[in-house]
Amino acid sequence: MAGPVPEMEARAEACAERLREADRVLLASHIDADGLTSAAVAATALERAEIPFETAFAKQLDETEVRKIAATEYDTVLFTDFGSGQLDVVAPHEEADEFTPVIADHHRPADAETEYHLNPLLFGIDGASELSGAGASYVLARALETEGVDNRDLAALAVVGAVGDMQNSEGGLHGANAGIVEEGVAAGVLEEATDLVLYGRQTRPLPKFLEYASDVRIPGISNDANGAVRFLSDLDLDLKEEGDWRRWVDLTMDERKTLVSALMRRAIASGVPADRIESLVGTTYTLTAEEEGTELRDVSEFSTLLNATARYERADVGLAVCLGNRDGALESARTLLRNHRRNLSEGLQWVKNEGTTVEDHVQWFDAGTRIRETIVGIVAGMAVGSGGISRDKPILAFAEKSDSEVKVSARGSHVLVREGLDLSAVMREASRAVGGDGGGHNVAAGATIPKGREDEFVAEANRIVGDQLG
Ligand code: C5P
Ligand code: C5P
Ligand code: C5P
Ligand code: ZN
Repeated sequence: MAGPVPEMEARAEACAERLREADRVLLASHIDADGLTSAAVAATALERAEIPFETAFAKQLDETEVRKIAATEYDTVLFTDFGSGQLDVVAPHEEADEFTPVIADHHRPADAETEYHLNPLLFGIDGASELSGAGASYVLARALETEGVDNRDLAALAVVGAVGDMQNSEGGLHGANAGIVEEGVAAGVLEEATDLVLYGRQTRPLPKFLEYASDVRIPGISNDANGAVRFLSDLDLDLKEEGDWRRWVDLTMDERKTLVSALMRRAIASGVPADRIESLVGTTYTLTAEEEGTELRDVSEFSTLLNATARYERADVGLAVCLGNRDGALESARTLLRNHRRNLSEGLQWVKNEGTTVEDHVQWFDAGTRIRETIVGIVAGMAVGSGGISRDKPILAFAEKSDSEVKVSARGSHVLVREGLDLSAVMREASRAVGGDGGGHNVAAGATIPKGREDEFVAEANRIVGDQLG
């Protein structure tokens, strides 16, 4: 059966044991959808285990952040969705007895070890595609269960984290993630289905749902408001209710089937390649305990909502939404979401207009201050494969972080990873060569480098990617 291996569960037990021994715990997590859900899973499990804790978020763990953490009164720190990649930074503070780290992460570990280290990569599980930070936190949460506590409901948040880190492939979540899905379904909080995978199934009126779907471009519908309305109006379906367009969730199974067939016929007639058409349908996840028609009901809408908070210094809002404090937090999150979506769409448009500079083995663009450094990676990922930006070479995206520092995000593809690409190594080595630091996953990674060293960095990254793929 898919799921974490016994060795990983044993490590989780040891971590749980260590947390129970602590008087109180500082829970530190990463500022994206996976980091927020990781924190929410861990926070709920700590609370149910009656272990006092406080939560803090950081953009990236570096020496400055770790020193801040070390300066607190806490002698036990639970890191979720980061920590492994910066073990070499954390370890000296542990040796100095400043705190004991407990780590639930899925990033490529740095060259150091620690006792309470829960990471799928240490157990033969792929951290880029088979278990996320929220998944690692979930494994820990199961180990933290006490008499009468069942933490399987937290599988819902773990799945949001995995999808937020783009671990969902065409056939759905797999590996250890599939085990978590099974537990969520058994606990009655999750539903898995085969459905149209366009973004906005819960919240978007049908014309916007089709118009804005950009992953698969259908001429005359995608990015074409009138075209989308015409396409829907030509169907023999009653798609309005009291004058308002219905949403995908409002449709019956039969209505959905009719719409999907018509959409596919149109795509075929417009010459959309067969593999792109097939990718319109895939595995989707629904959080059954959430209210229908809200962003929270659909796992991918939920994860975008969370990125819209945490990547804009409002992790507190995203965490509150995850923890079920919906009143004010959900409204704030929705406002942030509108802003995030506008930024993504403007950023994407800018990249498409500018294009990339293509080197032998990588391509890159420098967004300067036009794209926020916290979302430049998402934009880079959305840009490849569209508007003349090829998928054949990994993309490096620069954005200004401060007067002295530049953020770099790198995105590859699973095809390139199968050929030997490992962006976490590329980003770590190339950044260290120019006085910065970085890491991440084989398919997606990032770094911070000193301003002015971009050209050297590109040359170094280009050389390393050439070696990996050569
Ligand atoms: O720090 P963290 O692990 O949460 O971030 C992973 C990042 O990698 C996310 O931004 C996710 O969108 C990206 N990713 C990707 N393509 C994949 C897997 C992950 O762009 N196939
Ligand atoms: O914002 P988030 O990190 O959840 O986006 C992850 C992926 O979801 C993007 O790379 C993109 O493929 C998809 N997405 C989209 N349209 C949006 C937002 C997200 O297709 N407006
Ligand atoms: O920020 P971005 O979405 O590009 O990050 C991609 C991946 O690289 C994430 O998993 C992130 O945690 C990792 N990363 C890192 N060190 C950095 C920047 C990003 O490990 N300095
Ligand atoms: Zn993650």
